[in-house]
Amino acid sequence: MNRMRRLRMNGILRDMVRENHVRAEELIYPLFVIEGENICAPVESMPGICQYSLDRLPEELERAAEAGIRALLLFGIPAHKDEVGSGAYDDNGIIPRAVRLIKERYRDMLVIADVCLCEYTSHGHCGLVRDGEILNDETLPLLARAAAVYAAAGADIVAPSDMMDGRVEAIRRALDREGFTDVPVMSYAAKFASAYYGPFRDAAHSAPGFGDRKTYQMDPANGREALREVEQDLREGADLIIAKPAMAYMDVIRDISAEFNVPVAAYNVSGEYAMVKAAAANGWIDERKVVMENLVGMKRAGAKMIITYHALEVAQWVREEM
Ligand code: PBG
Ligand code: ZN
Repeated sequence: MNRMRRLRMNGILRDMVRENHVRAEELIYPLFVIEGENICAPVESMPGICQYSLDRLPEELERAAEAGIRALLLFGIPAHKDEVGSGAYDDNGIIPRAVRLIKERYRDMLVIADVCLCEYTSHGHCGLVRDGEILNDETLPLLARAAAVYAAAGADIVAPSDMMDGRVEAIRRALDREGFTDVPVMSYAAKFASAYYGPFRDAAHSAPGFGDRKTYQMDPANGREALREVEQDLREGADLIIAKPAMAYMDVIRDISAEFNVPVAAYNVSGEYAMVKAAAANGWIDERKVVMENLVGMKRAGAKMIITYHALEVAQWVREEM
């Protein structure tokens, strides 16, 4: 008889035949940086996550570096918002200043700058708005400007999350024109219009002031369309692809990684984090085991990297296991 259990009989053997692993060097830790002083404000819906002003950021960077985190994804929260999201492409805006600070103190930390307007616009949309409509082509130069400003500040990678068509090409052109030919574009290619972003919008003060994001983010029902999004972004010059959210979209991660020869990052988003934290706080699940199971599931689905708010703890756990 074929006995599948033979290879499960002891831990050494199980370790030996394990097909997928969560590794600290493949984790990306998102950070919220906020304008102001002496701020270390917990995000209520994301236990363990805070907004940091620049003077308090080094404490968290120290913890991250110590845990073995090697890559960060930065989101900025400006003091002032306006119709055109000026804070997103201001050389002295919150993100360029955060990038310079991180690069001064932690040269080896990989800094990924999220590129979008929604944290910076008074209406909270990811693009320019006219008569209630989110404009595509008029938004592209602003996104390209933001990407170039972040690269000039020292960002290692730029990650457009706006979902405007043609933004990868516009950003690639701007980077190349300004001499940043070696700065990769990590595109949120398959980004769904998801209710799982709720806690993030609290954290980043970026909820849309009217309507929703359904005219630019994807319909959760569409998997095949995600492949077209990825194909288009790769053609425009994307170097890395993000699929988002992760847990309800494992099939999308699987399909992208099977179809395209490009590293895929799974974004384990704020709502997924909040659900796990809430259940764990109630003692209903074993947090560590559930988190590791979720993340290894993303690896199994085909993700190369994982963007997760659990990163700091996971990096520590993974190290303990070694
Ligand atoms: C904004 C942006 C969002 C996230 C990353 N960038 C939210 C949104 O589209 O409203 C979500 C991340 C998360 O939920 O963790 N462009
Ligand atoms: Zn946005």
